[in-house]
Amino acid sequence: MPQYQAVKGARDIFPEESAQWKYVEEVVHTVASLYGFSEIRVPVFEYTELFQRGIGSTTDIVGKEMFSFLPDPNGRSITLRPEMTAGVMRAALQKSLLSTAPLHKLYYIGELFRKERPQAGRQRQFSQFGAELLGVSSPAAVAEVITLMMQVFQSLGLRGLKLRINSLGDKDDRHRYREALKSYFLPFQEMLDDSSKERLEKNPLRILDSKNPAIKEIVAGAPRLYDYLSPSSVEDFEKVLFYLAERGIAYDIDHLLVRGLDYYCHTAFEVTSSELGAQDAIGGGGRYDGLSRELGSSTDVPAAGFAAGMERVLLTMEKQGLLAALTPHGPVAYVVIQQQELEDHGMQVAWRLRKAGIRTEIDLAGRSMKAQMRDANRMRAAWALFIGAAEVTTGLYTLKNLVTSEQSTLSLEAVLELLQEPASGELQK
Ligand code: HAM
Repeated sequence: MPQYQAVKGARDIFPEESAQWKYVEEVVHTVASLYGFSEIRVPVFEYTELFQRGIGSTTDIVGKEMFSFLPDPNGRSITLRPEMTAGVMRAALQKSLLSTAPLHKLYYIGELFRKERPQAGRQRQFSQFGAELLGVSSPAAVAEVITLMMQVFQSLGLRGLKLRINSLGDKDDRHRYREALKSYFLPFQEMLDDSSKERLEKNPLRILDSKNPAIKEIVAGAPRLYDYLSPSSVEDFEKVLFYLAERGIAYDIDHLLVRGLDYYCHTAFEVTSSELGAQDAIGGGGRYDGLSRELGSSTDVPAAGFAAGMERVLLTMEKQGLLAALTPHGPVAYVVIQQQELEDHGMQVAWRLRKAGIRTEIDLAGRSMKAQMRDANRMRAAWALFIGAAEVTTGLYTLKNLVTSEQSTLSLEAVLELLQEPASGELQK
């Protein structure tokens, strides 16, 4: 085994897979632009306080999953971003984006870092794509981001996804509910596990999220947040559901859905894939009107967004046979050198082809013609262009169509003209 392995929870993406990633990314770019979202790229690290304030100090992410470090002994602690939303909001506030236009629709694709126990579908370095709609607080805005997310999944061909949705109400609703939950759980205190005991103190809503079967039983009798919502919060939630129904987006209301980040209010949602094991959440999000204030803004920036896990999307696609047809394009032309001494000429020709925008391969290892042809077929090159002594003297080249085996003799100019058509993208499906 080589001495150095990738860090636990991080993985390499080799070309075959890279082509699949690119395909998903292309779909994300295309669908995001249909909805008028523009791409934002924020730094991979931020000051640690941003996440402590933004995500919430009692959450698992901030409590035990962040990769934080001091850049120098007297410096401020820095953290590798465990999610994008706080960074995007920080960027918007820093640039006073909302003073230039009341609404900003941003999307992103990028790497995140969480110190979780690695397992299938759960890594320490992973990627998300997502979108944030800043400046509008309305059921329409939430419906917009859910619809965008579902359209990406649908465009990728994913099947069997389940959208669960809940309302977390506003601050007052949650305050009343938190008190009710505390009173409910108190008599069960001795039966709670350590993490639930801690949550009872700091953030009782998170107990609803417990995966422990014994806790789940206790949770089953707990009061429902829905019953503590004000009439206007109920109306808000119902409007979101109305939009989803109008658009034919199926959902299940899940009264226990609270999500693992503290910034949400009103609608929160999660999408699960039946193809994934224990880590079945493929995406999630919600409204987060309070985040801007948490980050010190003097004005409210109401917002809603979602993020989906790239690895989990790709795992689901793989299980559903949606990746089989996605392979990187082979070269258009393979320049075959018939004799070693013609190598320089071959290189010159390959360079001409590449300059003309034609994907071209050439052997750099001085291998036999047979080996070069094998390579050309393995790479699924469309054409082989032969470089022999006759070609060099006459300036006429033998070009072979590797699909039909037809051959013709052409000048280099004619080869360039022929192979430049049609322009092809990166991937074939
Ligand atoms: P999240 O639910 O923490 O939300 O993450 C979104 C998605 O990222 C998850 O559904 C999952 O697919 C993927 N994911 C999370 N952790 C891992 C991991 N360790 N390994 C692989 N995939 C993972 C957020 O991050 C929010 N910022 C979403 C949001 C955007 N809310 C509002 N706007």
